[in-house]
Amino acid sequence: MQGIKCYILLQLGLLYYVTSVNSASECMKLDTSITQKVEHEGFHREIKWLIETATPTSQLWQESGCKLCLKLDISRGMFVNPDELAELNRTQKLQILLDGNVDTEAPAHEASEHTVYVYLNDHNIERLSVKIPVHLRYQRGQITGGYGKVSLRKPSLLVWCPKQLSMVCGRGLKVEAPCDETFSKMCVWKNQTYQALFDDVELFVPVGDLDDYPLVSIVSLLLGCAGCVYILSVLSTTSL
Ligand SMILES: *[C@@H]1O[C@H](CO)[C@@H](O)[C@H](O)[C@H]1NC(C)=O
Ligand SMILES: *[C@@H]1O[C@H](CO)[C@@H](O)[C@H](O)[C@H]1NC(C)=O
Repeated sequence: MQGIKCYILLQLGLLYYVTSVNSASECMKLDTSITQKVEHEGFHREIKWLIETATPTSQLWQESGCKLCLKLDISRGMFVNPDELAELNRTQKLQILLDGNVDTEAPAHEASEHTVYVYLNDHNIERLSVKIPVHLRYQRGQITGGYGKVSLRKPSLLVWCPKQLSMVCGRGLKVEAPCDETFSKMCVWKNQTYQALFDDVELFVPVGDLDDYPLVSIVSLLLGCAGCVYILSVLSTTSL
């Protein structure tokens, strides 16, 4: 009897030991918040993000070898200009990748979506700021004109770690995305939840009365013709 009790106690002790060791192989808590601001009015805007991380410290983060990336899906109502991004890529400390073809001339209803990845490789993760210019597309004209709405999606924060994704706490969905801005390899990232210190944004664009343009030009052409005919007829009658 004593032996069995002793055995059970030993087992329980072992179980406790195992679970406490497991929870002691701690994950790194990534506590990040993002503030977003959209500047300017009209067709040309600038999105500004401030990405602040309370834990871990920059030093711990650097030692972990993990990487952060912001992924922004750009809807058909807007576009990023590849030339501008390439310029940012070259001159700033930003590593940007643009995935998808961008037709900068297409109106919203003929455009396709694309995705921007911003690799936040700066080691100071406590406070990172990123600025990206975006442009709104012309929308199909409505008879009434007025304003069209384009909603700006929230960026996804992706995290990747060299050994295993579970190095960072939380169970975000796995997302396949390019490992870096050269697009040479795909990596499996974790979709990390963050605290969004901003609301969903809707951007307003003036809608041109595009459908009226043909009518307007035909009418002015006809009026022009009528004028010519009139002048010609006046000229020909006076010269007679
Ligand atoms: C940024 O630079 C890398 C290589 O330096 C390049 O592969 C990538 O396409 C560039 N991104 C953009 C948006 O031009
Ligand atoms: C990441 O998770 C957020 C919130 O659940 C979701 O809105 C977003 O689409 C996800 N991003 C990706 C790339 O799966």
